[in-house]
Amino acid sequence: MLTNLRDICAIAEQNNMALAAVNSASLEAVRAAIDVAEQTGYPIIIQHAEAHEGVVPLKTIAPAVVALAERSSAQICINLDHCEHLSYAQRALDLGFNGVMFDGSTLPYEQNVEYSRRAAEMCVEYGAGLECELGSMGSREGGERDEGGTAEEAGAIYTDPDQAADFVKGTGLDILACSFGTVHGIYRGEPHLNFDVLEQIRKRIKVPLVMHGGSGVSDDDYRSAIDAGIRKINYYTYGAKYAGEAVRSVIDDRTKQGSDAIVYWHDMTVAAYESFVQTFGHVVKVFANGAAPLA
Ligand code: 13P
Repeated sequence: MLTNLRDICAIAEQNNMALAAVNSASLEAVRAAIDVAEQTGYPIIIQHAEAHEGVVPLKTIAPAVVALAERSSAQICINLDHCEHLSYAQRALDLGFNGVMFDGSTLPYEQNVEYSRRAAEMCVEYGAGLECELGSMGSREGGERDEGGTAEEAGAIYTDPDQAADFVKGTGLDILACSFGTVHGIYRGEPHLNFDVLEQIRKRIKVPLVMHGGSGVSDDDYRSAIDAGIRKINYYTYGAKYAGEAVRSVIDDRTKQGSDAIVYWHDMTVAAYESFVQTFGHVVKVFANGAAPLA
């Protein structure tokens, strides 16, 4: 069943937990996300990033995700991730998305507020929830393969806790994406999260907070971030990497049988699906932070 971004994050808030927000640029990942939500009893957020338009077009993936989510017994939100164009958000809302993350983090502050507010007006019209970003992650979602590194290397700007209150008021957003040490992509070395930034934000505003760059973070850091107010954790890169490794081992196994052994595509989709189920299953349970299944 479909639950919008605001309501699904309110559930996380009530249970001192975070929800996995998995970017699902393939049917294997979408199926895995829905199956994990049904099997574990925790709600899930399925995301399509504007930057993934070239991997799978919105017009193709949206009808499939919406139909599968509607008929599922699990609570599912379908969120547009890192949307930089209001026209793209309009298309996603028309196709049935019930959440939008408008990313104006690279714009000057006043413009970020202005465009985010316009996104909020669109979302209200559709009964969808809105996420916006203040501060900057530096590295971009869907960027080059080796983008990432540390927050400093990526050029991240931590969210200013004082500005956060003004931003929430000026935009009408439902949930706030914060920059506090995570980066998109592959980490080079241990990520160093600044929980003090989160606690300062939390003291000033009441809306649920979001961690981007959530894959590659340790389970202990997830728990600390959730205790500091994180309610949605965006998870993509490492799940895609593990699925890629599963596919590589299928190819390696076949190649061992002879260089002319046929490699079938369907064996790779099964390996990728199983890998996503394992990865999402693990993080969904860690993010539950001890909360009992909700379904
Ligand atoms: P990762 O690159 O760490 O998986 O982050 C994904 C993300 O934040 C999507 O918005």
